Amino acid sequence: MKQKFDAILQPEQAVYLDNLLPESKNILAEMEQYAAEHNVPIADREVAWFLEITARAMNAKKCLEIGLAIGYGAAHLAIGIGDESGKVLTIEPSDEMIEKAQNYLARLDLLGKIEIVKGTALDVLPHLLETFDLVYLDAVKEEYADYLKLCLPLLRVGGVVIADNLLWGGQVAGEIHSEKDTASTLALRDFNKKFINHPQLKAQILSVGDGLGYGVKIK
Ligand SMILES: C[S@@+](CC[C@H](N)C(=O)[O-])C[C@H]1O[C@@H](n2cnc3c(N)ncnc32)[C@H](O)[C@@H]1O
Repeated sequence: MKQKFDAILQPEQAVYLDNLLPESKNILAEMEQYAAEHNVPIADREVAWFLEITARAMNAKKCLEIGLAIGYGAAHLAIGIGDESGKVLTIEPSDEMIEKAQNYLARLDLLGKIEIVKGTALDVLPHLLETFDLVYLDAVKEEYADYLKLCLPLLRVGGVVIADNLLWGGQVAGEIHSEKDTASTLALRDFNKKFINHPQLKAQILSVGDGLGYGVKIK
């Protein structure tokens, strides 16, 4: 049993930890500002750092992202992949997002390490034949269970699945705040159980960002 449930999950602790992160520089800071001003749901800064650190720690060469938006998460994954021959393959259906991401990633000099596939994840994933070290799920919440099913065969044993927003602004563990979030919240409640108990994974949900799923493929 956890000794103190609120040891970390308190507002002042969250603010303290957020302030502790060094400020993003130049283009990454510009991306954060653009996302805030235009309501684009990019990864929280701590999630982005976690992606970069994980890719680096596991010496990842190939990462798969579902949901590119303006390229903020993909940029951190690409930075975490030190190896010049490594790559991030990312799936995104929106032309507007792809154009914006291409622009930022070119300015970050990361376009060479990031392959953008236009389409929806459920259309694209069944056609992928590559093996990945890390998979990052961050698109339609109602589809997470399908993403996991389609991604697991593409992930090497020892590889990592990271899934964002598993607590969905508090609604997964508590009350649903708005009707538009009902389907996604119910889907995430179901996904979380499957994720934690999946026979091919050892998985946890971390109190990072909006609840970050972290699972390693064991077989
Ligand atoms: C939360 S944002 C992604 C943020 C990004 N991963 C990051 O870390 O900064 C979700 C993105 O998924 C895209 N999306 C929506 N439906 C999708 C689908 N069916 N398949 C893949 N991506 C989708 C949206 O257009 C949006 O850009």
